[in-house]
Amino acid sequence: MEPLNNKQLTTPKLFMIAGLLLLAVGLLFGFTGALQYLVPGFLKQYLSFEKIRPLHVSSIVFWIIFGTIGAVLTYLSQHSGRKIYSPLLTKIQLIIFILSIIVIFISYCVGIFGGREYWEFHPLLALPIAAGWVLFLINFIKSVGSFKKQPVYVWMWLTGIVFFLFTFLESYLWIFPYFRNNVVNDMTVQWKSYGSMVGSWNMLIYGSSIFLMEKISGNKPFSYSVIAFALYFTGLFNLMFNWGHHIYTLPTYNFIQYISYVVSMTELFIFGRIILQWKSSVSIARKHFHHTAYRFLIAADVWIFLTLLLAIAMSVPAINVYTHGTHITVAHTMGATIGINSFLLLAFAFDILHDTCLPFTLYKKWFNRGYWITNLSLFIFWISLIGAGILKAKWQMSAAKIPFSTMMLQLRPFFIVFFISGTVMMAGFILILYPLLKNQFICYLKNILKKRKIKEQHVSGIFAMD
Ligand code: HEM
Repeated sequence: MEPLNNKQLTTPKLFMIAGLLLLAVGLLFGFTGALQYLVPGFLKQYLSFEKIRPLHVSSIVFWIIFGTIGAVLTYLSQHSGRKIYSPLLTKIQLIIFILSIIVIFISYCVGIFGGREYWEFHPLLALPIAAGWVLFLINFIKSVGSFKKQPVYVWMWLTGIVFFLFTFLESYLWIFPYFRNNVVNDMTVQWKSYGSMVGSWNMLIYGSSIFLMEKISGNKPFSYSVIAFALYFTGLFNLMFNWGHHIYTLPTYNFIQYISYVVSMTELFIFGRIILQWKSSVSIARKHFHHTAYRFLIAADVWIFLTLLLAIAMSVPAINVYTHGTHITVAHTMGATIGINSFLLLAFAFDILHDTCLPFTLYKKWFNRGYWITNLSLFIFWISLIGAGILKAKWQMSAAKIPFSTMMLQLRPFFIVFFISGTVMMAGFILILYPLLKNQFICYLKNILKKRKIKEQHVSGIFAMD
């Protein structure tokens, strides 16, 4: 047996571990939700779909937030070679977030909502989250010190942290009657804020990916290059203005829709670059494929390609009219949050946690199986949602008044494939998560026992001297 690594479990690492636990819980809620698609009314008395959906979505959103904070704080101190400005602020932030999530979950279970889609908890609970985020911002700025000659990822982290706070607050403007009383304005602000919020956490995650890629390849110049900053500004431009496709169906000003359509198409620049780089990335992938973190980067690359393909199609107004409110939107959100966000975060988790405990080589078989199972089943899962979405879109636009229940019966084969592939995907994720979490807990317990033993030996030594 290889010796225990004595590296401390720092607070940023605890953020990552808490995030992994939230992912595991979120998978269970997702599985229950998919079962409720097939067996309507399943668990209705205790945990109906109206409760399961927010429980699933909130666990997943907080997995992304926790994992991202853990990655940014760890990589920032690795980049600067210094400790984070205030470990105490990080600890306070972690405690605030964990307590808020516990209260949010309890409130869902007892049926207290009051929020909006994706943030369905009571708006009062947004206050501690915003406060915790402000601590993160202060800690980040103080830890960076000077912004002169910083690589692109430091700018991406700063942009992501500032814009997340801005869009999070913006998504609560509906609590003021001025915004709430006009439906079109209300929906416009709501969907604008959600679109930009996802862009903000993507900035944080993509910034961390650039850091990790450079760390693995040992090649620094990219993050200072003109192309890196050009891609950063394209991302920033999209974060600010491409949300328009969320509101194509609202009767708002046409110029907003035209601008956002043109902006969405600038993403083709990023898309084109992915294709161009593909050939070289294949040979690099072969070189590093043994590296677990790198494997997740490659998987995310494929999912960026697929998601962007779907997103660009959905940004075409004539197609958007059909896809709006169907499972194609769910395919887009889930494809992005699983295939891109979760895979990238898992890459960071492997990189960050590999030196805390026993080496991961012991679990290589688990990871290999989990990796392939998750990727293949995700593809089937995604296709089944798109298939269900196409049928629903046809039903929505059909002149013949086919009843909702008949349409739902037609979707059943897709829901069966969705459920089976979702269950297999969950099993794949468990194969990846179980050793990752077990390793941390075993080491944590062993370290406590080791410390206790040393203390006992010390005390018995004192008694022996007496
Ligand atoms: C890393 C894993 C996962 C992530 C990141 C994730 C993410 C999401 C997100 C963001 C949504 C909201 C979609 C929207 O409203 O547009 C969602 C909904 C949902 N997810 Fe997942 N999910 C994951 C795993 C699963 C699994 C394994 C299952 C099933 C076995 C599942 C079943 C569902 C269901 C049933 C919904 C509700 C869809 C609806 O409202 O009609 N999820 N998920």
